[in-house]
Amino acid sequence: MKPDDILALKNEAEKELKAAGNAEELEAVRIKYLGRKGLLPEIMKGLKDLSPAERPLAGKYANEFKSACEGACKALLDLRRNALSVDQKADSFDPTLPGQWPAVGSIHPISRIIEEAVEIFSTLGFTIADGPDIETEYYNFDALNTPADHPARDSQDTFWLDKKMLLRTQTSPVQIRVMEKQKPPVRIIAPGRCYRRDTTDATHSANFHQIEGLYVDNNVSMADLKSDLTYFAHRMMGPGVSVRFRPHFFPFTEPSVEYDFSCHICAGKGCRVCKQSGWIEISGAGMVNPKVFEKVGYDPETVTGYAFGMGVERIAMIKFGIPDIRMLYENDVRFLKQLA
Ligand code: PHE
Repeated sequence: MKPDDILALKNEAEKELKAAGNAEELEAVRIKYLGRKGLLPEIMKGLKDLSPAERPLAGKYANEFKSACEGACKALLDLRRNALSVDQKADSFDPTLPGQWPAVGSIHPISRIIEEAVEIFSTLGFTIADGPDIETEYYNFDALNTPADHPARDSQDTFWLDKKMLLRTQTSPVQIRVMEKQKPPVRIIAPGRCYRRDTTDATHSANFHQIEGLYVDNNVSMADLKSDLTYFAHRMMGPGVSVRFRPHFFPFTEPSVEYDFSCHICAGKGCRVCKQSGWIEISGAGMVNPKVFEKVGYDPETVTGYAFGMGVERIAMIKFGIPDIRMLYENDVRFLKQLA
């Protein structure tokens, strides 16, 4: 085929490609030109029969012809593929199928109690303080007026790391760390983990949480302690709760008390969770011992203060009716979902 004929055929093919209105028509054009027995392979084959003068131009036209056809066909193929995938989606979408809900987590009951306590005490003007889990003997015991021969230091109670370092047995060392850094007035709460060599049972764990509270100012009294803890109890447990204070001993408070909430589950009548007593021990409290003030350089003649440390697990157990402390650590999703 002469170069001019190839050019003419190429123009015609382009016209046909443009005119093709649907997939079938375009496929027909493709076969006509590009197919195995199509016109283009034939033109290619015929090139060798041309004269050397005509061959380069004919080759050029033939190549242009081929790439024009191929380009148009590829564009078509893409169009069809896209149409196909959209169609498939449209066909397979069934709006009556139930949706897929993403699994939503929940806040752990211990975190919830801590968050609520922080919120309640912040309305009383308390801010949050923090201290390390790995403590020195000084902060955990000495500064808290707990002498070396005190039973709380017994190796049965404390996880010692070496001669001077230990895992804190209480959040009370945060009191010392705060008072060392800050002049009175002080009004902080310090939630955190505590560690004791306790044998785990339904109400004890070797790793538990406390919320420490410390309020130091010029005229802080036992009445403030009682009213603030009662206010907290009502906000945390509801207005029906009663709070009871019993005399106790702590080296770092004088006088000291332990305080109980009436059992939320049986409303004080007696049940399994409160061991039939109607009360749940929440923890210790008292007026800061002047010896502690001396350790941190406060003047016990001008300031007084109260401190408390409450057990977070205990509160969670009565608030949510959890009969065994171990359920709080197993992280069984079925259990956590019930409390979500
Ligand atoms: N730290 C004490 C305990 O763990 C509780 C407490 C805190 C008592 C503050 C008095 C004042 O048992």
